[in-house]
Amino acid sequence: MSPPGRPKGECLSVQREGRPILPPGRFITFEGIDGAGKSTQLGFIEQALRDAGIDLVRTREPGGTPLAETLRELILGTPMQPDTETLLVFAARAEHLATVIRPALAQGRWVLCDRFTDATYAYQAGGRQLSEARIAALEAWVHPDLQPDLTFLVDVPPAVAAQRLAAVRTADRFEAETLGFFTRVRALYLQRAQTQPERFVVLDGTGAIESLRGQIAAQVRLALQRWHG
Ligand code: TMP
Repeated sequence: MSPPGRPKGECLSVQREGRPILPPGRFITFEGIDGAGKSTQLGFIEQALRDAGIDLVRTREPGGTPLAETLRELILGTPMQPDTETLLVFAARAEHLATVIRPALAQGRWVLCDRFTDATYAYQAGGRQLSEARIAALEAWVHPDLQPDLTFLVDVPPAVAAQRLAAVRTADRFEAETLGFFTRVRALYLQRAQTQPERFVVLDGTGAIESLRGQIAAQVRLALQRWHG
């Protein structure tokens, strides 16, 4: 598999008077349907990067700032129209980008984010069946210039994910959705992964945890080689 994301040294590297060039911060996102197990894998990649000496920020969407976490509670807990949900997700994202993600990247830190705009395509366009053009318009407003360098998609069939979720906690508004909803969410994720292979790495979330970890570790090594030489 070819190494993902921006070529080494491109974009975001910063030279200030008399100071060395900062290696560029990298933006890595994790995606998957609810119950795919991405949080466990995120913990693993976080550790692997910290062990490699990478200075990183781990965060999530919706959320990642006090205001965006308040919006998250509303989005996950309050019934609302699909348009309202989409606009709130992007409102939270605008705040998160301006106060956490962009400043970290500008300082040369890596950002590991649990979900980003791919989730809006998958959930609001796929799941809720809004037009992708609406999401694209908001994306062009909020982050016309920034995409993740690397996106891990942890893929599992919705029936497997539903079984896992039922075993662990009370469902929020999304987790309580139907298998049909998650089938559409998964299809949109897979479609995006197929059309943007330079950025996506699809992991089989039904595989043994050790094999998944092996695949993630290999991808981290590739990314480090490519980006840090
Ligand atoms: P999490 O439980 O993985 O943190 O995700 C929170 C929920 O929010 C999850 O069910 C997916 C949903 N979501 C959207 O519907 N649209 C989005 O853009 C994002 C980031 C999350």
